[in-house]
Amino acid sequence: MPTGSIVLLPGDGIGPEVAAEARLVLELLAPELELVEYPIGGAAIRATGRPLPDETRDACLAAVAVLKGPVGDPEFDAADVRPEQGLLALRAALDTYANRRPAVADGVDVLIVRELVGGLYFGASGVRDDGTVFDTCEYHPRQVERIVRRAFRLAASRRGRLTSVDKANVLETSRLWRRIVDEVAVEYPGVRVEHMLVDNAAMQIATSAERFDVLVTENMFGDILSDLAAAVTGGLGLAPSASLSDGGPGIFEPVHGSAPDIAGRGLANPTAMLRSTALLLEHGLGLPEEAQALSRAIEAGLASTPTADVGGHATTSELGTAIRGQLVVDGYPADTYRASDGARA
Ligand code: NAD
Ligand code: IPM
Ligand code: MN
Repeated sequence: MPTGSIVLLPGDGIGPEVAAEARLVLELLAPELELVEYPIGGAAIRATGRPLPDETRDACLAAVAVLKGPVGDPEFDAADVRPEQGLLALRAALDTYANRRPAVADGVDVLIVRELVGGLYFGASGVRDDGTVFDTCEYHPRQVERIVRRAFRLAASRRGRLTSVDKANVLETSRLWRRIVDEVAVEYPGVRVEHMLVDNAAMQIATSAERFDVLVTENMFGDILSDLAAAVTGGLGLAPSASLSDGGPGIFEPVHGSAPDIAGRGLANPTAMLRSTALLLEHGLGLPEEAQALSRAIEAGLASTPTADVGGHATTSELGTAIRGQLVVDGYPADTYRASDGARA
């Protein structure tokens, strides 16, 4: 069991509701680790005036791993200081460039590998004298190479197929992307590579997602395609992600946003947050057995106690409770399990 603390960032909207379920699960599966909460996003702006307060950033930098709920609040839609800026700044501070967004259901098993700290979301933006507004998309070859290498390694460990998604018929950054994919491909003869334009990729995810294994792409394309992949595999309420760096703490975060349309009503599906917690257990804490136990419990909980977005009537906490009730580690219910020494209560 690693030592140190897990930072929990509940975030905005449905964030605190799904974070509460994740906290209860972590208290069962990783009881030795201190779980400390800090504000980010709209909650942090309200408390401190800033979407990523220094205390939050420093705690994340010192953590074993970060579990983050969604940020975003319509209250700040017209403001200069926005909740989402806190999330982007956190990803940059932790250099979590490799965002894994798995989408799995009935014959579909696609892993979207999204570049997370470059491109349009991080390039220069502003307003020119004549009133023109601009955002710019830039990539340095090193930024592309490191994410592409990750994707090749992942493809080699899975079904050996990599789809690189770009817009090379129009964009310079995409032509750089394509060139680097082809260069790195030489080192991975066992991986079958294809290039696909992003518009076609969207169509194929919608109509035949089962054809994909690993899909690697730049920041904005990955943002959009991962919501689509979530939609064809059960919905945003189910879709987790892991944002990883080269050695520092990862950020484990659902793909979905703060869902202001359902916030505060107990309607949110906690599965995306809990699957992100499973990714944290596996990749952040090195506890694959606990991660698998949680994944199995989530499947059982979803089958018995589904929330409205997946065709049921359960509330957030009813599904959370059902999942915890199904948690079995080493053949024992998790609430009688002491991970510190393997002893049973
Ligand atoms: P959203 O993902 O919040 O919601 C889209 C739709 O999916 C809504 O109908 C919502 O009710 C539903 N939904 C999302 N998560 C759900 C869950 N767990 N259970 C049941 N239904 C769920 O997208 P949006 O409405 O476009 O964005 C709202 C805010 O969230 C914006 O401020 C946006 O910037 C922010 N956002 C944050 C993140 C993040 O922090 N990673 C991701 C996406 C959007
Ligand atoms: C996501 C979100 C964020 C992103 C926003 C809130 C900045 O949409 O994690 O998918 O685009 O990365
Ligand atoms: Mn998104």
